[in-house]
Order: sequence, then structure tokens, then C-alpha cells
Amino acid sequence: MELTSAPLHKGQVPWRGLLLAALLLAYWNSPVSAQVTVEAVPTHVAEGANVLLQVHNLPTTLQVFYWYKGDTLADSNEIARFIISSSTNSTGPAHTGRETIYQNGSLLFQNVMQNDTGTYTFHMLTANFDNPTKSLQFYVHEPVTPPSIQVANTTFKELESVSLTCDSQDIGISIRWLFNGQSLGLTDRMKLSENNSTLSIDPVRREDSGKYECEVSNPVSSERSNPIQLNIIPDPTQGSSGLSAGAIAGIVVGCVAGVALIAALAYFLYFRKTGRGTDQRELTEHKPSASNHNLGPSDSSPNKVNEVTYSVLDFSAQRPRPPDSASPSPRAIEAVYSEVKKK
Ligand SMILES: *[C@@H]1O[C@H](CO)[C@@H](O)[C@H](O)[C@H]1NC(C)=O
Ligand SMILES: *[C@@H]1O[C@H](CO)[C@@H](O)[C@H](O)[C@H]1NC(C)=O
Ligand SMILES: *[C@@H]1O[C@H](CO)[C@@H](O)[C@H](O)[C@H]1NC(C)=O
Ligand SMILES: *[C@@H]1O[C@H](CO)[C@@H](O)[C@H](O)[C@H]1NC(C)=O
Ligand SMILES: *[C@@H]1O[C@H](CO)[C@@H](O)[C@H](O)[C@H]1NC(C)=O
Ligand SMILES: *[C@@H]1O[C@H](CO)[C@@H](O)[C@H](O)[C@H]1NC(C)=O
Repeated sequence: MELTSAPLHKGQVPWRGLLLAALLLAYWNSPVSAQVTVEAVPTHVAEGANVLLQVHNLPTTLQVFYWYKGDTLADSNEIARFIISSSTNSTGPAHTGRETIYQNGSLLFQNVMQNDTGTYTFHMLTANFDNPTKSLQFYVHEPVTPPSIQVANTTFKELESVSLTCDSQDIGISIRWLFNGQSLGLTDRMKLSENNSTLSIDPVRREDSGKYECEVSNPVSSERSNPIQLNIIPDPTQGSSGLSAGAIAGIVVGCVAGVALIAALAYFLYFRKTGRGTDQRELTEHKPSASNHNLGPSDSSPNKVNEVTYSVLDFSAQRPRPPDSASPSPRAIEAVYSEVKKK
């Protein structure tokens, strides 16, 4: 095949190799799948409950099997044995009166106690001298007791720091916090101690007001504290959190209004500028004629000069003036102009 002769990329397996691997896997898997396995159901047991130590894939050649406490086959550790040929059982030194052995290999352990936690070993004898031992563990837990929340006060001012502690008498527990009945989502203002027993909120904010609970659990049980109602008094110098919908809406409206204002201003200035340009053109058109009039000895009409000076003034002031207030200024300019004219 071309594929096998082609240079292999990293991780690529040639077809022949793959086939060989598959065959080997099938060969090795058949005895593996028939191997004896043991399992504790459940692995974590509540104190006083039962656990079944199950055996899977017992061979047909089985003759005798044993259960031991611990991981060694010491006689003193034998709990019980079962003899297949006679379908009978017998107990060993480690039998506590709470264990029952079954033909299918299982050992039922009833009313477990803390000190039953540990390793148990299954051993068997078969006709073909295949005598494996298999071990398992199970763990007995006391049900947890309800925890309680310790807090200095339930009323705080915004920006103060708050520390909630989950008090529990139990060991081997994990702790989680609830806020208004939901798993607490940690914000960057919140911190948990290493084992979650203390929740610190610094600085506290008005939106942290609400019902806090802590929940302790182990593999067999969980209990919640009584809820603590935290009341955070808003600080008037603090806006409500930037995350509130109202605040976002406000910011958006503000931005839109700002942009509209700038656009309006730009529009206004542009047209003012265009208008000014028109003034300038008018002025430059007038100027030569004005010069002509003034320089020409025959044409010295005061009205025309007045008109031109008024234009200049109007441009420099950039503001139309009422004729009354404008009248003195043209006269002043007229006077200056007259002086220039004289030179
Ligand atoms: C042995 O078998 C008897 C009769 O079936 C049963 O009552 C007893 O609980 C068994 N003992 C053990 C340790 O399994
Ligand atoms: C073995 O027998 C016990 C008691 O009858 C039963 O509860 C258990 O499920 C059986 N185990 C298996 C692996 O079949
Ligand atoms: C396990 O604890 C119980 C009481 O809790 C006690 O009676 C028993 O002797 C203890 N067993 C062992 C093996 O220590
Ligand atoms: C809790 O805080 C409030 C407000 O700061 C205060 O008035 C009250 O006395 C405090 N209560 C306790 C028990 O410290
Ligand atoms: C602490 O709490 C978080 C979730 O709030 C959880 O994922 C984690 O397992 C907890 N750790 C312990 C030690 O309880
Ligand atoms: C959590 O850790 C603190 C300090 O390390 C300890 O005092 C407390 O007992 C622990 N709580 C639990 C439930 O493990």
C-alpha cells in the first residue's frame, strides 16, 4: 500500500501496524474482560448503612473463596469463606457478626461503623491453580451536622468589609456558599479562605444585600446553615453598580446625546464658516469699487465710504449689529480712512 511507504507524519500509524495492534488488543482483551474484579457498592458509605462487596466474573472452575479484612491473607484477618462444592460458608476470626457471604462471591457488610473504613481482600482457589487476590476500599462517613454562619453584624455600610464564617463541627467536609438560594458567584470583591470556611467581601456593595447560607457536605450527606440576611446601606457617594441596566442605559443615552450635540455644533460651525466666506467675497468685490470711489477725486460720496466701512466692521465683528449701535464705529473708521485718503 502507498500509505505505508509514504513518510509518516507525527502520530500517524501505518495500516499494517494498526491492524497488528488491533489483533494484539483483541487477543489480550479476551482474558482481561473475563478477569475477576471486585467493587464496593457504594464506595462511600454513611455510618449505619450497608455496603456490598461485589465480585464480577467468577470463574467456573472456582472451588473456594475468602474475604479478608486488610490487604494480607493472614488467617487472623479472615472474615468468612465459601465452599462451592458444598454451598456452605464458615466465618473467620475477623468476622464481626455483620457480614454475610454469598455464593456469587459477594460479601454484604451491614451497619457499618467508622472503623470499618479500609481495605478488604478477596482470594479464591480454582481447579486450574489460577488463584488471584483482589482488594478494594470503602469509606464510612458520619452524616454532617448543620453548620452555622458567624458574622459580626448583619447591617453594613457600603464599602465596608464583611467577613462570613461557616462554622462546622464536622471533619472531612467541603463548604460552599449560597446567595439568595443560588450557588454564590464570586465577584472580584469576594474572597474565600483555603477551605472555603470564610467568605470575605471587601468592599461590600449594595447589591450584596441578600440571604447568605453555607452548605457543608461529605460524600454521603449535606446540610445547610440557617440563612443570614445581610443588609448593606447604600453610600450616597457611590453610584449604583456600573453593571445595572439603568446605569448602562444612562451611559448609552449620554453618549448618543453627546455625539448628537457635537454633530449639531459641527454642522452649525460649518454653515457659519460658509456664510462668512460669502461675506468675504462680498467684501473683496466691494473693496476695489470702494477704493476706486475714494481714490477717484470726482467720486467722494460719503454714503459709499460709509457702506464699505460698515462691511469691514461687520466682518471683523462677525456679528450683525443693529444700525444704531454700529453708526458711531463707521464714523470712527471713516475718520481714519479720511486720513489715509489725505496722505
Ligand atoms: C452462612 O450461611 C448461612 C445459611 O445460609 C447464613 O444464615 C449465614 O448468614 C451465612 N454466614 C455468613 C458469614 O455469610
Ligand atoms: C450476589 O448476590 C447478592 C445477594 O443475593 C446480590 O445482592 C448481588 O447483587 C449479587 N452480586 C452479583 C455481582 O451478582
Ligand atoms: C470499632 O468501633 C466500635 C465502636 O465504635 C468498637 O466497638 C469496635 O471494637 C471497634 N472495632 C475495632 C476493630 O476497632
Ligand atoms: C450593626 O451595625 C449597625 C450600623 O453600623 C449599628 O447601628 C449596630 O449597633 C451594629 N450592631 C451590632 C450588634 O454591632
Ligand atoms: C470551594 O468552593 C468552590 C465553589 O464555590 C468549590 O468549587 C470548591 O471545591 C470548594 N473548595 C473546598 C475546599 O471546599
Ligand atoms: C478551615 O481552615 C481553618 C483555618 O485553616 C480552620 O480553622 C477551620 O477549622 C477549617 N474548617 C474546615 C471546615 O475544615
